[in-house]
Amino acid sequence: MVDWKKIRKDFPIAKRFTYLDHASASPMPKPVYEAALRYYDELVGFADFSWNRWISRREEVRRKVATFIGAEAEEVAFTSSTSHGMNLIAELIADQGGVLTNTLEFPATTVPWIHRRAKMRFLKPANGVIDYAPHLSADGTGTVKTILTSFVQYQNGFRQDLEAIGKIKGNRFLVVNATQGFGYLPIDVKHTGIDFLATNSYKWLMAGYGGGILYINRKWIRKFQPKSAGWRSAPHPESFDNRHAPLKRDASRYEYGCPPFPHIFAIGAAIDYLSEIGFSNVWNRILELTDFLIDNLRKYDFEILSPLSPPFRSAIVVFKVKNAQELTDQLLAKRIYVSARGGGIRVAPHIYNTEADIMNLMKVLRQVMR
Ligand SMILES: Cc1ncc(COP(=O)(O)O)c(C=O)c1O
Repeated sequence: MVDWKKIRKDFPIAKRFTYLDHASASPMPKPVYEAALRYYDELVGFADFSWNRWISRREEVRRKVATFIGAEAEEVAFTSSTSHGMNLIAELIADQGGVLTNTLEFPATTVPWIHRRAKMRFLKPANGVIDYAPHLSADGTGTVKTILTSFVQYQNGFRQDLEAIGKIKGNRFLVVNATQGFGYLPIDVKHTGIDFLATNSYKWLMAGYGGGILYINRKWIRKFQPKSAGWRSAPHPESFDNRHAPLKRDASRYEYGCPPFPHIFAIGAAIDYLSEIGFSNVWNRILELTDFLIDNLRKYDFEILSPLSPPFRSAIVVFKVKNAQELTDQLLAKRIYVSARGGGIRVAPHIYNTEADIMNLMKVLRQVMR
């Protein structure tokens, strides 16, 4: 049994606000903050005497991330954001053929490809659901080379069945923006057949702004030549060779310069924090809270825009209101934090929220709507 009350104490924000917007950004739990601070303490006290320790701690985090997503450590690189990771992916394969994506995507998914003039095709959702299958089976001539999709859509919380796409993708690349599912939904890149994945650290993982993760299936690391490289892309950076540009044989070739240690250590501490609670407990708690929210929204006749069939569920629930921005501003004035997205209000609770938080949202929402 998880002591959720104790967990809530790790989030002092809960004393001041009803914060239900983890799809925008999460507060950092205290133990993760302390792990990140430890780096700054070491920097103040020891500077580069700590270098080797930091490098080995970074490799420890890389292994943790790899285990978390079912990858090998050599297939994981640290980045600064989802956008950074997606650009590195597009840099490798945007010229390989058509890209099948959809109109719900957050621009971080699509912009790097459009920028490189990839041939894009945007599917429209039906009832909030994107189904790639009919388009892939109709793609007889094989014009689609890349399936580009979010794991969970930021606008309506629709969760894509990545495993189903993996089964029918054939020889196409499956490229996933995992941002809105990363940290609370299981993801297994190998089992699913994901070729490339990008995500960041500041949303559901709760590790703060500035960090990101890139996964590249090892088959593609050496097959595609990156256009960018840096001194730390070399297998032996400390040889300071300024006349050649050999590349590491693993995904860390994309880490061009010195590492953003505090972000990487926060990612490691966040994975530890969530895995100590237990990832299935994390997801079940989020389901309990979103079930409770959905029941209440139905009770007051709100139309829910998020697809609600169980395989489509995520931590995001969007319901329809007129003037969503105005209402979210009014809620904010009452210290309730949600977002206006996808034609309604987006509510995105995390593990430390409570049923009382949801009740507070419902109560104040009905007040401000009167
Ligand atoms: C699905 C999705 N991808 C990416 C981002 C932004 O990622 P980053 O700022 O790390 O590039 C967001 C932000 O809301 C998002 O919802």
